[in-house]
Parts: sequence; structure tokens; C-alpha cells
Amino acid sequence: MAKIAFLGAGTMGQPIIKNLLRGGHDVTVYNRTQDKARPLQALGATLAATPKEAACAADVIFSSLTNDDASRVTWGGPDGALQAKLKSGAYAIEMSTVSLTWVTELNELAKARGLHFLDCPVAGRPDVAESGQLKVFAGGRAEDVDAMRPVLDAISKSVMHVGAVGSGIKFKLIYNLMGAIHVAACAEGMQACEAAGIDIAVAAEGFSSGATGSPHVVRHARYMAENSHEDPVQFSGRMRIKDMAYGIGLIESVGGQSVIGHAAKKVFEQMMELDMGDLNDSELIDTLRVVHQKDRA
Ligand SMILES: NC(=O)c1ccc[n+]([C@@H]2O[C@H](COP(=O)([O-])OP(=O)(O)OC[C@H]3O[C@@H](n4cnc5c(N)ncnc54)[C@H](OP(=O)(O)O)[C@@H]3O)[C@@H](O)[C@H]2O)c1
Repeated sequence: MAKIAFLGAGTMGQPIIKNLLRGGHDVTVYNRTQDKARPLQALGATLAATPKEAACAADVIFSSLTNDDASRVTWGGPDGALQAKLKSGAYAIEMSTVSLTWVTELNELAKARGLHFLDCPVAGRPDVAESGQLKVFAGGRAEDVDAMRPVLDAISKSVMHVGAVGSGIKFKLIYNLMGAIHVAACAEGMQACEAAGIDIAVAAEGFSSGATGSPHVVRHARYMAENSHEDPVQFSGRMRIKDMAYGIGLIESVGGQSVIGHAAKKVFEQMMELDMGDLNDSELIDTLRVVHQKDRA
């Protein structure tokens, strides 16, 4: 069993850590707000005051953090994990949804400290993380992915090796951008039905059972029709916009265009403009209702 440092006990980090503990691993947790990580102590985790302290002598260092800024300070700050007395040949695994630019830089920093690096962003909401059924999109050398499979198996149902370092996050950003487009299309379609006088429960059933019924649409149309959203918030409009910005940035950096991505991001940005950005992404429909009322007034 591995000695693991886990950086970031947020909505995703907590269930992932629980599954690593259930898998018999020895887990030391750092969370910026330490109180939030305290319940994990009762399950066998050790808490560390800094990322540096957590990473000391670990076999594997994972992070699950909000964005580039959070990851940069947690790995590279004065008390960051990369300042620790590291075990030679240990693994650094970035699970957060961050930009390709930062993953590329982090790989270089980790290599300079003698670490093996993998980018392993995950797909699946917190309930999926809780049941250990996440999908991992791994970027890195095949032998490094294989070496980490026993640990990743404790938290996931599949580990897809996408390619070299950076490939995991590239795929995840494009995958999430497509997902966000589904959610935006669902909110727009549901609100349009409502405005056109169609019962939205009927609309949800129609969208979910037809060719439009992707898993995102099935899940979100139900929340929208029932006007009952996840509590506590599982994935906010703000997080969607962050992921979409990184995804569009990636596509444009390789000379592609993301016409639909830009349009869907614009739809989500209305949540921020109306101070609704910290609500669930499914509550986008409420933003569209407000915008619709304003436009009619
Ligand atoms: N939620 C989902 O459905 C989902 C699914 C797949 C992937 N993801 C990705 O997984 C990652 C974590 O998401 P989450 O839902 O767990 O988010 P979250 O609940 O907001 O947790 C974010 C974590 O980052 C830490 N953090 C934020 N800013 C920081 C900073 N400046 N310095 C140090 N630590 C900082 C937070 O610490 P505090 O507790 O102190 O705030 C917390 O540990 C994100 O990259 C997200 O895109 C999320």
C-alpha cells in the first residue's frame, strides 16, 4: 500500500480520499482550510499544516484543486509540495481541471525534483467519486500509468491512457467543453419550451427519451423540471466557466475554433452577471428565466 499525500479536500477531494483510505492506503491530507478536512481524521487520514509537510517522503502526491492559481501555490509556493524533502522516484499526479499551460510547467517543475509526473483529471460528479466510479484521463508515460494503476483503481472504474504528459488534460478540457455545451443547450431548450407554453415536465421527458437525451441532458432536465437542484452545490456555473475558458484556450492554441464553445460560455456568463455563479450549473435555467423576463419588460 502506498504512502499518499493528498492536496485539496474539497467537494471532489473528500470522496476520493475516503476511497484511498478504504483501499488501505496511508493518506496525509493538506487542505487550505484545515477544518474542512477534520472529518477525514476519524477515517484514518493524517492532517498536515502545509503541502510541504504532506508531501514529505510520500510515494504519491495527488492534488485536486480549483484552478491554475490554487495548483500553482500548492505545488510551487514557499510551503508548496515541491519544496518538501521528496522521496526519490515518487509520483506527482495532478487531478485538477487546470490549463494545459500550467500542466506543462508543473511537469517540468516535478521532473526537476526527480518526480514522475502524470496529469490525471477525472470525469464524474461527487456522487460518482463517492462510489469510486470516476473515469481517469491519464497523460504520461505508459509505464508510469501502469505503475499507478493499483492506486488509481481505488478511486475509479476506468483509467484511459490518452497519451504523453498533457494529453489527459487536453482530452478532459475538450470533454468538459462538450459537456458544458450539452448543459447550456438543455437550459436553453427547457426555458424555450416553458416560454412557448409547453409543460416543462413534458419537455424534460421528451428531451430525455429522444435523440437529445445525453446523460447531461437526462440529469439536468430533471433538476430543471422539478425546480430542485443539488444541495450542497456539486458543480457551479463559476466552475463551468473556468473549465470552458481553459478548453477554448486550448483549442485556439492549436489553431482550432470553438464557435459553439464561445456561445455556451456566453450563456453561462450570464449567471455571473446576475450574481448566480455559485449556484449549480443546472440553475442556469433560472438565469435564462430572469433574462427572458427582462427582455420582455
Ligand atoms: N465538482 C465536480 O463535479 C468536479 C468533477 C470533476 C472534476 N472537478 C475538478 O476537480 C477540482 C476540484 O473541484 P471541487 O469540486 O472539489 O472544488 P471545491 O470543492 O471548490 O474544492 C477546491 C479545493 O481547492 C482549494 N483551493 C482553492 N483555492 C485555493 C488556493 N488559492 N490555495 C490553496 N487551495 C485552494 C480549496 O481549499 P479550501 O477548502 O480552503 O477552499 C479546496 O480544497 C477542480 O479542478 C474541478 O474543476 C470537479
